[in-house]
Amino acid sequence: MQSTAAQHGEGGLQDTGSVRHIDHVTYVAAWENEKGFIETWEALGFHEHVRVFTDRHPATHIALVAGTSPEYPWATMTGLSISEDPESPINEFVRRYGAGTQHVAYNVDPTTDMEEVYQRLKSIGWNFMTPVLTFEDKNKAMLRQAFVAPAIPFGPFVEFVQRLPGPDGKAFDGFDMMNIDELYDHYADYSRRLEAGKIK
Ligand SMILES: [Fe+2]
Repeated sequence: MQSTAAQHGEGGLQDTGSVRHIDHVTYVAAWENEKGFIETWEALGFHEHVRVFTDRHPATHIALVAGTSPEYPWATMTGLSISEDPESPINEFVRRYGAGTQHVAYNVDPTTDMEEVYQRLKSIGWNFMTPVLTFEDKNKAMLRQAFVAPAIPFGPFVEFVQRLPGPDGKAFDGFDMMNIDELYDHYADYSRRLEAGKIK
């Protein structure tokens, strides 16, 4: 894909319709602070929607949601990732930077070609740590995600996520469950190379 000022305008994409809203914001915290985190968000009207356990990078990933929308069974989503494993990239973040926002995910319009968005962002300088990852749920709904590399080792990052409905019209329902270990492979590897000075 060519990158020219004529295609993208001065300093950005001409097509501003690709991203519609924040899909979710995910936090990391110390393992023992799960209950307090959930209670805080329950006070704001959130409830637990799904809880996912990962094996390769042992951790618990909890999605809390609030409200409803025509497209999804929620209006907004907050994630919490916690781990008992001291070596977890989650705990690397908490040790280095404290508990807080690990990543913000922007929702990409389902009518947009996700791969094209990805290539166009790369062409104007966005540095991704993953390719576009694609997953399908049992109802043939698809989740497509691409993750921007952190600027500091085990630091915060940005996600672009697209939820494509299956034949029943329902969008991929839930958190980014199947890809989490794959994301953490890329995140840990990129962070170690960044720390070793192998990435400038
Ligand atoms: Fe996410």
